[in-house]
This record gives sequence, structure tokens and C-alpha cells, in this order.
Amino acid sequence: MTNDQNNDHHIVGYLEGITPQISGWVCDTSAPSTRLRVHLVIDGMIQATTIAEKPRPDVAATQVGDGCYGFSFSIPSAFYDEVEHHLNIKIEGRSNVQLEGTPRTCVFPNRVLTIRAATNADRNAIIRLYNAADEEGGYPPSMDATTATRLLARFDLPKNRLLLAFVNEQAVGYLTVASPVRGPHGHVATLRINILQPHRGAQIGTALMRQAVEFVETSGLRRLELTVDMENMPAIGLYNKFGFGVEGIKRGYYFDGTHDKDMYMMARLFQPEIDPSLENV
Ligand SMILES: CC(C)(COP(=O)(O)OP(=O)(O)OC[C@H]1O[C@@H](n2cnc3c(N)ncnc32)[C@H](O)[C@@H]1OP(=O)(O)O)[C@@H](O)C(=O)NCCC(=O)NCCS
Repeated sequence: MTNDQNNDHHIVGYLEGITPQISGWVCDTSAPSTRLRVHLVIDGMIQATTIAEKPRPDVAATQVGDGCYGFSFSIPSAFYDEVEHHLNIKIEGRSNVQLEGTPRTCVFPNRVLTIRAATNADRNAIIRLYNAADEEGGYPPSMDATTATRLLARFDLPKNRLLLAFVNEQAVGYLTVASPVRGPHGHVATLRINILQPHRGAQIGTALMRQAVEFVETSGLRRLELTVDMENMPAIGLYNKFGFGVEGIKRGYYFDGTHDKDMYMMARLFQPEIDPSLENV
């Protein structure tokens, strides 16, 4: 028997919620400073992995270590289908442990995808979304109420837009179009997009991009540009699909933590609206 298996009975925790997030907490009370890695398993396949380290004051209050043992997962888009699914949480290296509250059978409603411009009422959704995206990218959360307020104000300007994608009312992705508004580059905007991992490959990027293009076509912008990692095939595929072309390479532009990487510069030009009074001139 391995050391880990000896300690299996020291694992405490619970799978609590299924919607809107799959969430719970887990701790090895024999090593309370260790944060366990947990896998979300649906229908026998690992869908996502995270570290159970979110602060849980309610858990700390019950004298379980420092209480930083929470975890949460988005429900992957593919499972919003009104079909019964088998859901489990597995703890890395502790295959024999069955977390309390698991396994479960669950049915998620059909997916309702909504794309719309962010408003002040979305401040909390933005904080959750940007911080989840930071964590997925391996960065510490950087969005707080003040930063979110600043972000909303910035995208409230003409020629600027922050679009949000919601799956069954959970914010799962954003797209920004940012332009200096005035000056010689006032017709140029920069595009950024990010969809949370469990929702990628489910046409949400496409839906966001469609609305971004509609916005650009009606806002007086004539050029939309971006930089993208040359190895980021899903993103390049999305940009190609919407008519962006490669204009050049920025060498060594992006440090990924290990290497300086080359990036494509991509852009799409938009025709200015023809003034009908000038059509026959
Ligand atoms: C890039 C990203 C925004 C795409 O959004 P998405 O919702 O996953 O994309 P969609 O499902 O709408 O697919 C759009 C197109 O992208 C391409 N694509 C998507 N997933 C792909 C994959 N795994 N491999 C190759 N191409 C892929 C396809 O061309 C697809 O069009 P199709 O379905 O008509 O064939 C998303 O994957 C993401 O957020 N990635 C992480 C952040 C990021 O890389 N942002 C861009 C930085 S420049």
C-alpha cells in the first residue's frame, strides 16, 4: 500500500453544487498545507482539472486547515443537452477516494447562448469571467471591482465594445474591440477574444465574432487588427473564417514563460459606407 493510500481516510470534502458551477471543496487533513488537484470527470472522461485552493471561509470556520480548499468548474458546453450524464470528481493520485456527494447522475438543460454588449449590471460576471480566464492561463486573478468599473467605462466609448457570451446565463467568453476613437488611427481597432476552456470549440467564438463584425460595420471603423501566436490554430482558424489576413510576423514578440515567440499580425479591412449622394459623382 502506498503512502497516499494510507492517507486516503484523511481526505474530507464535498461536491456541493452542480449549477451554475460544479463546485465543492476537498482537503487532506493529514497535510493541510497541500492543495489537491481535482479532475472533473463526465461520462468517464476527464473534462477539466483544477487545484482545490479557493478560499472557503465556511470551511475554515469548521477548523479544517486554513479553509483554502474550494474548487469550481464550468459545465462544459457539450453537456447542455437534456441528456442524463454521469458526473464524478477524482482526486489526482488518490484514485480510491470517492468524494462525498459523488458520483452523481445529472441532466443539464439545453444550451441557450446569448451574446450582448456588457453593461454596468455585468460587473460581477466580468470579474468572475476575467479571473477564471487568468487562472486558466496560469496567471493570478487580476480583475476586481475597481478594474471592472474602469473596463466598462473604457468600452462605453464610441468605436469600442465589450461583448460577452453567456451560456445559460453564465458568462463564458468575451470579445473586445478597442479603438483610440480620434486621430489618424481613429478608424482602427484592436480585437481580443477569450472563451473559457470548457466552452471552446462550440461555436461561441464564431457567435462573438459575428456580432463584432456587425458592430465594426456600423461604427465607422475600417480596420480591425490583432496579433496571434503562430501556433494557435483554433484562433487562426477563427480569424481566417472571418476574412482576416496575415500581414506580417512580429518576431520574438510574446514571452510564454519559457520562450520569446513569433506572432502573426492579422487584420481585416472594412469598406466605408458609400454616401448615397456621392454614388453618381
Ligand atoms: C480561439 C478561440 C477564441 C476560438 O473560439 P471557439 O469558440 O473555440 O471557436 P469556434 O468553435 O467558434 O470555432 C471557430 C473556428 O475556429 C477554428 N477552430 C476551432 N477550434 C479549433 C481547433 N481545436 N483546431 C483548429 N481549428 C479550430 C475552426 O476554423 C472553427 O470554424 P468551424 O467550426 O466552422 O470549422 C478560443 O479557442 C479561445 O478562447 N482560445 C483561447 C484564447 C485565445 O487563444 N484567444 C485568441 C488570442 S489571439
